[in-house]
Amino acid sequence: MSVHLSRDRMTVPKIQARKGGEKLVVLTAYSTPMTRLLDPHCDILLVGDSLGMVLYGLPNTLTVSVDMMINHGAAVVRGAEHSCVVVDMPFSSYQESPQQAYRNAARILAETGAQAVKLEGGQEMAETVRFLTERGIPVMAHVGLKPQSANAQGGFKVQGRDEAAAAQIMVDAQAMDAAGAFSMVIEGTSEPVARKVSDAVSVPTIGIGASAACDGQVLVTDDIIGLFGEFTPKFVKRYGNVADQIGQAAHAYAEEVRGGIFPAAEHCFDRKD
Ligand code: KIV
Repeated sequence: MSVHLSRDRMTVPKIQARKGGEKLVVLTAYSTPMTRLLDPHCDILLVGDSLGMVLYGLPNTLTVSVDMMINHGAAVVRGAEHSCVVVDMPFSSYQESPQQAYRNAARILAETGAQAVKLEGGQEMAETVRFLTERGIPVMAHVGLKPQSANAQGGFKVQGRDEAAAAQIMVDAQAMDAAGAFSMVIEGTSEPVARKVSDAVSVPTIGIGASAACDGQVLVTDDIIGLFGEFTPKFVKRYGNVADQIGQAAHAYAEEVRGGIFPAAEHCFDRKD
């Protein structure tokens, strides 16, 4: 499978060129119909492993598999004409060795047609990121709060609160930059930390819960349209309430079916159809 690279298509070099320029707009996407709606408005569509929680009702992202990412990645690529599609590498698909990371990243790109992969980690992943990028696999890094390391980080907690922790985020970000990552997500940290990191690295930073100091922003689409869960994290802004509309439509349908109103004559076939 290969992506149709039209002139309008966002590519990895075009994303790199946006450092310090026009802000990058990034949303998650997991399916073809949703991709078609989001694609004209975004620069990057991220097939995040958040799909484990958002679509599959899992308690965290740790059991998401490479096959799940490939199925959803391919669905997003089928719907995207403009955005650069980046697919998350799930937990345990890259941490073992650079070779394991290469095998899974190559499979993800070959079987989805996506342009890049994203993986979580900093200094400890530098060798792996270098191994991938030197072999032609574009990598988006992910530093700060790393949901796949929630057990080690003590939950989904804001990172970089003290000097040492803030310095570690800087070390991680610079290691990813030096290893060849073409961009990086910075998740869950304060504005001063995000600003310092963004100023220090040569590639675009994409913030989530990391202030406007970054070169772009990413959010989970289902959060901004009000489709996922009751809880809205502080860093999310809701731009719609699709859950209410779905509930209202299902309620109206149920009432009409129970009342014998649906289907009406116009919804039924006659012999001429
Ligand atoms: O999995 C995901 O959706 C992500 C973004 C929210 C950054 O990693």
